[in-house]
Amino acid sequence: MRNKKVKKKPNKKKNAIPVMASVTIVGLVLGGGFILFSASGPKQEAFASVTVYKSPTCGCCSAWVDHLEENGFDVDVVDDNNVASFKRKFGVPERHYSCHTAVVNDYVIEGHVPATDIKRLISEKQRVKGLSVPGMPHGSPGMETGRVDKYKVFSFDENKNTRVFNRY
Ligand code: CU
Ligand code: CU
Repeated sequence: MRNKKVKKKPNKKKNAIPVMASVTIVGLVLGGGFILFSASGPKQEAFASVTVYKSPTCGCCSAWVDHLEENGFDVDVVDDNNVASFKRKFGVPERHYSCHTAVVNDYVIEGHVPATDIKRLISEKQRVKGLSVPGMPHGSPGMETGRVDKYKVFSFDENKNTRVFNRY
């Protein structure tokens, strides 16, 4: 009995590497399948929940909401005729005002900011107040007019200081 137990220990160690390698391969295959499945499945978990404050008649705002939903965000829309009140409340720099204002994970998003930039902001947990695309540049998400202009995405802080976050 005792000898058997002692013998088993070195055997386990020898087996450890090939067993772990095959477990990793099986895990990768299963993991890959799961990612494919969850990307196409109906119950895909939202990347984050966003609340969008917009005027009830704003068409490009609704198009931006669609853009967020297409990129995995769960969107709540608040229609209000006084959108400027939300910009003041959330501390958006005046010179960066656009049509809509959104809040996601305690960040403020002003205007037609691409979903990829919002995802980067959240993933990197950047210590800023939010992101903005001032005005309504042609070619930004929700502003597909056929014309494509260059534009910048800015980050801004509590004191309304701004920095370039991305360029398109
Ligand atoms: Cu707009
Ligand atoms: Cu808008």
